[in-house]
Parts: sequence; structure tokens; C-alpha cells
Amino acid sequence: MRSLHVTGGKPLFGALRVQGAKNSALPILAAAVLAEGVSVIRNCPRLTDTEAAVRILREVGCRVWEDGDALYVDSSGPVRPEIPSRLMREMRSSVIFLGPILARCGEARLSAPGGCEIGARPIDLHLRALRSLGAEIEERGGNLNCRAKRLRACRIDLPFPSVGATENTMLAACLGEGETVITGAAREPEIQDLQAFLNAAGGSVTGAGSSVIRVQGRERLHGAVHRVIPDRIAAATWLAACAAAGGDLRLYDTEWRHYRPVLHKLREMGCDLQTGENLVRIRSTGKLKAASPIVTRPYPGFPTDAQPPLMAAALTAEGTTAFQETIFESRFRHVPELRRMGADIRTEGRTALVWGVEKLYGAEVTAADLRGGAALVIAALAAEGESRIYGLQHLDRGYTAMEESLAELGAEIERKEDGDG
Ligand code: EPZ
Repeated sequence: MRSLHVTGGKPLFGALRVQGAKNSALPILAAAVLAEGVSVIRNCPRLTDTEAAVRILREVGCRVWEDGDALYVDSSGPVRPEIPSRLMREMRSSVIFLGPILARCGEARLSAPGGCEIGARPIDLHLRALRSLGAEIEERGGNLNCRAKRLRACRIDLPFPSVGATENTMLAACLGEGETVITGAAREPEIQDLQAFLNAAGGSVTGAGSSVIRVQGRERLHGAVHRVIPDRIAAATWLAACAAAGGDLRLYDTEWRHYRPVLHKLREMGCDLQTGENLVRIRSTGKLKAASPIVTRPYPGFPTDAQPPLMAAALTAEGTTAFQETIFESRFRHVPELRRMGADIRTEGRTALVWGVEKLYGAEVTAADLRGGAALVIAALAAEGESRIYGLQHLDRGYTAMEESLAELGAEIERKEDGDG
């Protein structure tokens, strides 16, 4: 079995380019199905999740090839309306292909994604929105059978700013008849990036970034060239790693305005942070102070995906840090593993209280989900002695070559097969 071997106690020094955003690349790859032509998606991160999306694109009839940091998607040919459940199971967010396939083909057949490690993750808001656009959706035995000759525009009020439901509705409405208005929409930067891609493909989408999005339906879209925005959660992860381990790190090709709440908390914890155009510099002694309560919220609030990395940084901070997770019902699965390293954390429901400890100690731990896995790596960098981290399939879903990046900054970290010396 493969694991990361990390010997902690080494501060991080140097510069790191931030990868393209996973949570932007995925909906944009799905959007390429809408475009009758060749789309060029630059700065597309190399991740197991984007590879899974590419398998789906090929399965439904698109030609996909790579060139440097760009993915080329040719969807000029006929698109098949079916995604086999083996591909749906590979990646929970495959549901984002539902809207584009239904809009492009007039039908879509796929299995419902089901829950994942961090929560039940229902798709009721996705289905409600598509039904409002006129889709007939039959749900049977975990399968979705959807039909709509042509989707008809309407007003959709989302009771919660779900990122996925907002994206699926934008995508479906692009080929609908008339103007769709989505109120209560998610405002994440990834939604704005999707709008930019759709408009480059001949769509007419406005309002992304606000809670009201308007989509003027078109007969068809064409291929487009687009550069994916930097990954704000990867940036937050690297900053939390430097905060915890100490050091002096410059991130470039990053948009700090996308993660202000994270910068605010790291400053409260005593890190010295400077921001510039596409640049953030952090300096930390590794001796941190506890932050005021961290409550996760939809954008522009504190991102739920940055909760585990920031918790890892708070483990050795002086004082107590409170975390409240308001987005997902089981997003503290990293806590028992952090306790193995000597962390002092009490949880109750969706609240966790972290009492800062003097030291963490290396241990054998297993990641249960993507961001929880990042928290284990960060804690291991700050710990005394060696840690072994298993469950790397979770990390590889969201970080491109994490250990190489950290090793470049001076960390003692290596991916090894059990039994390797
Ligand atoms: C996106 O997931 C991200 N994934 C998640 O990142 C992120 O945590 C999440 O948004 C919130 O910011 C991608 O973009 C691929 P939601 P998504 O729909 O779209 C409930 C990571 O680590 N809900 O905004 O699935 C849902 O259960 C991942 O990179 C419904 O009840 O998130 C959850 O509690 C993890 N019904 C809440 O809303 C619905 O129909 C937020 O979900 C849809 C959602």
C-alpha cells in the first residue's frame, strides 16, 4: 500500500505556483458538452477528478486530448445521453454533467451520485431546478431517466446557494428557450469562471458572483478557449502548511481576493501576510495564536473546504479555536486521526473545539476525504518525528503532486510503497 512518509519539524521556504481550480475545471469540462466544437481549457489541473471527467466526456462521444497544460475537448460530433454508473461512482460531482447532456441531447440517463465521506449530499435542488425548466425526471432504483425536448426558461429560487445546483441550472438553461433567472444562487468564484467560459462559447449569462443569475437561452453554443482560475483551496492549504510548520512562502498565480476569510484568520493567528498582483507571501514562526471562531459559510464566507487545513494549523496554536461546520454534516472525519498525533480536539455535532498543544508527534494515520487528508499532511509537517499517511487516493483527487511541491519547499516528504526501504 502506498503512503506518504513525512518527517516533521522542517519549515517551508520558497515559491510555489498555485494549480488551476479543481472546482472550476470540473463544471467547465461538463460545459464543453454544450459547445458544438473544440474547446481549449488551459490551466486545467492534473487530478484524478479531472481524469474521471475526461473519461465521462469520452464515454458520451467527445474527443479529448492534452497539449501542455491545456485540455482540448471536441464535442462537435453527436453526444450520447448515457453515463454508466461505474463512471458516476468514480466522482461524486459527475452529477454536473446532467444539465449539459439533457440540454444538448434532450435526454439523459445516469445514476444518482449518492452520498460521500463528508455528508449525504442530496441533489434535490438540482432535480427541482431541472423540473422547473420542463424536464421530466424519473428516479428509479438510484437511476435518473430525464427527458426534455427543449428546456423552457423560468424563474428558479434556490432555498440554499448550492454550488452544484446553481451550476447545473446555468448549464441547462444555456440551451433553453428564453431567459432563466436563478435567485438565491451560489456566488463562488468558480461560478463566475463558469459564466466566463459559457459566454466565450457564445452563451449569454450575467450576474455570476451575485445571488441573481440570468441566462438567456441560445439555439447552440460553439467551442471556446478558456484559462481556468487558480485554486483558492489549494492556496489556502499551502498557506496553512507554512503557518503550521513555519517558514517563508510565496505563492504565485493566485487570486488572494478569492480567499480573504482565510487570510484574515491566518493574520489573527500571528502570520505575516503580504498580497500583490497574483501573489501572496506568508511568513510564520510556527508559534501561532488561536483564532476567533471559524464558522464555515457559502461564499464569500469562510470556505468549508479550508476548514480541515486551518484546523491542522490551530492544533499547536496558543489557546482554543472553535470551528463550526455549517455546510456539511460530517466534515470532522480528520479529527480522530489528528488525535493520534497528540491533538486535543472535542467535537459535538457540527462544532469542534481545538485546544492548542505544545507538540504533535508523528503517527500512522489514514485520510478519509480530500481536505481531511490535507489536514493530516499539514499536521505531520508540524509534528515531531515521522508520520505515515494512507488514503492517498483522496489527496490525489484535489492536489497535483502534493509531496513534490512540499519537498521543493524543504519538507521531508516522500510517497512510498510499503516495504520500500
Ligand atoms: C461544491 O460541492 C464543491 N465541489 C465542494 O468541494 C464544496 O465543499 C461545496 O461546493 C461547498 O462549497 C465542487 O465544486 C466539485 P453544494 P457541491 O451543492 O456542489 C446541500 C472539495 O473538497 N445540498 O453547494 O456538492 C449539500 O448536501 C469539495 O473540493 C442539498 O441539500 O456543494 C450540502 O450540505 C468537497 N441539496 C450543501 O447543500 C442539493 O440539491 C452544499 O452543497 C444540493 C446541495
